[in-house]
Amino acid sequence: MSFKINPLIQQVEPPPISEAMTWVSQSPSNRALINLCQAVPSYPPADELADEVARLAHEPATGLYTDILGTSELRSALASDMGQDYGAMIAPEKVGITAGCNQAFVAVMMVLAGAADNVILPVPYYFNHHMWLEMLKIEPRYLPAIKNGSVYPRAGDAERLIDARTRAIVLCSPNNPTGAIYPPAIIDEFFALARQHNLALVIDETYKDFRDSPGPPHDLFSHPEWDGTFMQLYSFSKVFALTGYRVGSIIASGKVLAELEKVLDCIAICAPHISQGAALFGLKALAEWKAEKLQMMAARAQALKTALARADLRYELMSVGAYFAYLRHPFPGTSAKAVAQRLARHHDLLCLPGSMFGPDQDGYLRLAFANVEAELMPEVAARLIESQEE
Ligand SMILES: Cc1ncc(COP(=O)(O)O)c(C=O)c1O
Repeated sequence: MSFKINPLIQQVEPPPISEAMTWVSQSPSNRALINLCQAVPSYPPADELADEVARLAHEPATGLYTDILGTSELRSALASDMGQDYGAMIAPEKVGITAGCNQAFVAVMMVLAGAADNVILPVPYYFNHHMWLEMLKIEPRYLPAIKNGSVYPRAGDAERLIDARTRAIVLCSPNNPTGAIYPPAIIDEFFALARQHNLALVIDETYKDFRDSPGPPHDLFSHPEWDGTFMQLYSFSKVFALTGYRVGSIIASGKVLAELEKVLDCIAICAPHISQGAALFGLKALAEWKAEKLQMMAARAQALKTALARADLRYELMSVGAYFAYLRHPFPGTSAKAVAQRLARHHDLLCLPGSMFGPDQDGYLRLAFANVEAELMPEVAARLIESQEE
């Protein structure tokens, strides 16, 4: 090659899911693979939503760009839906629609920080958050979340990581990869810490609909000055099974959104118009469908928990919730990647090694169980047990 590649991009590991998929093709077995690798729902979008998309496709306006921050109908509907869920008033002007939650993260980090600034990131982290910080040369300051049997990061531990170049604290709850759902009191502590140090608190709440209790995930939106500190990122990908449609959101102050608009304009101009229509339909017409799916996911989590309670299983369940379970594997001298590769090649079980989610995670595996039906969970446990023989 006669030209140089940006070393900031070159140094980043390849996308983890694509790498893991290569392990499967090497399996010599005929047994069907259990795929616990990617966080995708195992079902398609609702039929009514597909009909609505077909209708929208015939509307000439659907072929046009929308406003950069999304259609006013979707911004209003999401503001009202979130307001109900969190028991707070959220103004539509504080909602921006993005082409997926990953894009919301990318854009918000560009707005908040630059090269040589730093951002506090609990470990294990969602790998795309980390990849993006590396690409921008923003230093991730690691905050260990797994400590003394707990899987929650603590604001008290974060304080010593803050210096003059710290710009934000990033949380993800329900968490990818652990599935841990942070109690509101813990989120409150982070809000107070961020406020005290004039930092942004960015919470990726992609999985908030899949939480295990009907109460609000936190009460930050009720704080009179929430938007001076807090920004919420969200996704339509999981809740309405729209991963390929690319719709997400950010809720933040008007000041942040004005800056965000510049970034979004350069990346994709707007989220796909037709997909915004699909998301709007989901919010307005699919409450029952959504409740049914959430119940099914909760049943999958419970079935996995029950299946993993076998006394002869030496993998230890650290936490489970929303879409994920995080396990400690029973091979202390072996890397998580070697364990995951062996599970894929010899036991037809595909999951991701903890090492893809940050430093000191070599003892763990992530199971993304949303893709697998409840009836299959005992077989997941059986294959893990089978792997103990080696
Ligand atoms: C924590 C988290 N944030 C964001 C995303 C991506 O969401 P989207 O499809 O809306 O970009 C995912 C997808 O797995 C995720 O796990």
